[in-house]
Amino acid sequence: MLLDVQGINTYYGLSHILFDVSLQVDRGEVVVLLGRNGAGKTTTMRSVMGLTSPKSGTVVFNGHDVTGMVPYKVARLGIGFVPEDRRIFPDLTVRANLEVGLRKSKRITNWTIERVYEIFPRLEELANRRGGNLSGGEQQMLTISRTLMGNPDLILLDEPSEGLAPIIVKVLGDFIDLLKREGTTVLLSEQNVRFSLKHSDRAYIVDNGHIKYHGTIEELEKNEDVKKRYLAV
Ligand SMILES: Nc1ncnc2c1ncn2[C@@H]1O[C@H](COP(=O)(O)OP(=O)(O)OP(=O)(O)O)[C@@H](O)[C@H]1O
Ligand SMILES: [Mg+2]
Repeated sequence: MLLDVQGINTYYGLSHILFDVSLQVDRGEVVVLLGRNGAGKTTTMRSVMGLTSPKSGTVVFNGHDVTGMVPYKVARLGIGFVPEDRRIFPDLTVRANLEVGLRKSKRITNWTIERVYEIFPRLEELANRRGGNLSGGEQQMLTISRTLMGNPDLILLDEPSEGLAPIIVKVLGDFIDLLKREGTTVLLSEQNVRFSLKHSDRAYIVDNGHIKYHGTIEELEKNEDVKKRYLAV
């Protein structure tokens, strides 16, 4: 198992946000965390990354107990986080944004700027443009690509499809499929159910800080009750 989250409880100040959240991700899987606004998707990812430490419970990554570890150390162990607000460097060029993320590794993947350009020719066309001048979709591709430059074993994508035009969502979906083929494990958070079901192997549903369901995509597809209750489909 690559990521093992066991019974975490996370707070912001006095507000109890996550209640005994457990989830597992195996190497090579694409797992989606589904939930509506405010359900706790981002907080779960922040808890894994060490941005908001859980008060109790454990986060084990690749055999290392990373509970409460500072984010840069978690990143060094091989987790890449793409936050929902797409934090690119607006004043740096596209190429410089990618260079910032570059880190040689002995991991299974070996991403280079050239390979990213092959997959997203648009980023090569925009190489000398300031990041801040890119469209939302282009910025999303740039943020994910920059994170890949660090060759993470596990990439956390927080609502990557949010606010993207359908054609860019399709590009993103193809990209997630490619990551899986290349051996990068993905934990995705989403509200876009259709998109998630198409590109994931397994799903967790979080609601009000509680995990309400988990199963394979096939199981979820068949579960009309759960879909109606939590996913409004
Ligand atoms: N910094 C904060 N301080 C206090 N409460 C917060 C903070 N950030 C989030 N919350 C609360 O925690 C709960 C879970 O928020 P979270 O951002 O994890 O949800 P989410 O599933 O990512 O939602 P969204 O789809 O809107 O991004 C919400 O009730 C939210 O209001
Ligand atoms: Mg969120």
